[in-house]
Amino acid sequence: MPAPCSSQPATALRIGTYQLPNRVFAAPMAGVTDLPWRRLARKLGAGHCVSEMVTSRPDLLDSRKTARRMDHADEPGPVAAQLVGVDPRDMAEAARANVEAGARIIDINMGCPAKKVCSRWAGSALMQDEALALRIVEAVVTAMEPLGVPVTLKMRTGWCAQVRNAPLIARAAQDAGVALVTVHGRTREQGYGGQAEYDTIAAIKAALRIPVVANGDIDSVASARAVLAATGADAVMIGRAALGRPWFLGHVAHALDTGEDVPWPSLAQQREWLLEHLRAHLAFHGDAGVKTARKHVGWAVAALSGGTAFRACFNQILDATAQLDAVDAYFDALQRGALPLPMAA
Ligand SMILES: Cc1cc2nc3c(=O)[nH]c(=O)nc-3n(C[C@H](O)[C@H](O)[C@H](O)COP(=O)(O)O)c2cc1C
Repeated sequence: MPAPCSSQPATALRIGTYQLPNRVFAAPMAGVTDLPWRRLARKLGAGHCVSEMVTSRPDLLDSRKTARRMDHADEPGPVAAQLVGVDPRDMAEAARANVEAGARIIDINMGCPAKKVCSRWAGSALMQDEALALRIVEAVVTAMEPLGVPVTLKMRTGWCAQVRNAPLIARAAQDAGVALVTVHGRTREQGYGGQAEYDTIAAIKAALRIPVVANGDIDSVASARAVLAATGADAVMIGRAALGRPWFLGHVAHALDTGEDVPWPSLAQQREWLLEHLRAHLAFHGDAGVKTARKHVGWAVAALSGGTAFRACFNQILDATAQLDAVDAYFDALQRGALPLPMAA
């Protein structure tokens, strides 16, 4: 009897039953990858996005910040929410609350090195306590199973150079029912210093049945290709290289899919996307958005001609409409007169 036909290529990447369109994930970044950012990143070709980390502390679940991070209005699916916390029961409860708020995939944060998070034994600090890490994974998977919600895990390679226990935790997580693991190729001790290493990620990929995503220092099409080749990973996750350019994920994904070198977006395209992002950001964050928009615009113009001077002026603006006008006028000047060189791929 012939095998059943499938319209999906053999390499199709899935999280549970969700098929993803490509192999480039946007890294969750607190204070950056909010709802407007994710919507735009998805529209411009990101294969998968995860929310900023959401606390599982019950006393903070009703806070304004948490509500904003749990907002998934009109977000293209499958919507993924990332949870951070130390208590298995709280994590399971928060997972249910996030599913009620629209999440269809729950990601567990075991990668964040921030003091605020780690001093409470959350984020990457969990990798120091393998038993607790596993209890959290089991509690969340058990809570999500009846809802048909896959659980993913994001971690570092270990706590420190002497304790690179990510392979052990990843294997235990897989056995507990986790659907995908992302690994940032640094230990907690490294923070963001030094270079990411990919040997540990390759070892994890070789040992697991579930998809593995490689993360750390991927900032170009060439480095995405190199990391995929070095690790055998199923996908790459990109964070800092997408600051100010939510379109970068789609740019890399297109190049990986086609095998071609995709041209860098024109200034006209960058202008249109930045204005779209800025409008959405201001609408989402209200008055507070004027201040939080500054970093996004600053990153977006950093490598453009006159970008540093423009950023300094932009940071003085106190009004949303004036911010939009300023970005428009800046790009107008760029496109008409100066010869700016967009950032190299
Ligand atoms: C500003 C910022 C915020 C971050 N917030 C989170 C977060 O909320 N959850 C998480 O798992 N990782 C977080 N990370 C880590 C990234 O997801 C990613 O693992 C890390 O930046 C390495 O990838 P990159 O070299 O492509 O940036 C954050 C990183 C940055 C720079």
